[in-house]
Amino acid sequence: MNLTRFTGAALAALTLAFATPAMADDDNPFAPLPPGEGAEETYYACIACHSLRTVTNGAYSRRVWDELLDWMVEDQGMMELEPDEREIILDYLATYIGEE
Ligand code: HEC
Repeated sequence: MNLTRFTGAALAALTLAFATPAMADDDNPFAPLPPGEGAEETYYACIACHSLRTVTNGAYSRRVWDELLDWMVEDQGMMELEPDEREIILDYLATYIGEE
């Protein structure tokens, strides 16, 4: 067996092994947030302080998310969101991480 060809095949196998999870992330760059309108805004607003698992762990109604956003600002030090951005994020949370 030719060493160059072996190295090439090994590299190709390695690339394939590592490319697979990366491709899954390409489909959803904001994982673990579910894909959807507002995922990007939510990602950047919430990633500063804690894992997005903290966000996806909850499944709340729109009213509770609304209160949670206020609580995040008043007691947890989150920067107040612009009203239109807050609306996008609240819609996103209530729709995609809403109550069952
Ligand atoms: C400035 C920091 C900061 C930002 C930004 C932030 N959080 Fe938090 N958040 C916290 C802290 C600190 C806690 C933990 C509080 C505790 O449990 O003591 C927390 C906890 C939570 C919890 C768990 C609440 C519970 O019942 O324990 C949820 C849900 C949450 N955050 C949602 C969000 C969402 C959604 C965003 C983005 C819109 C966000 N957070 C952005 C600081 C932040």
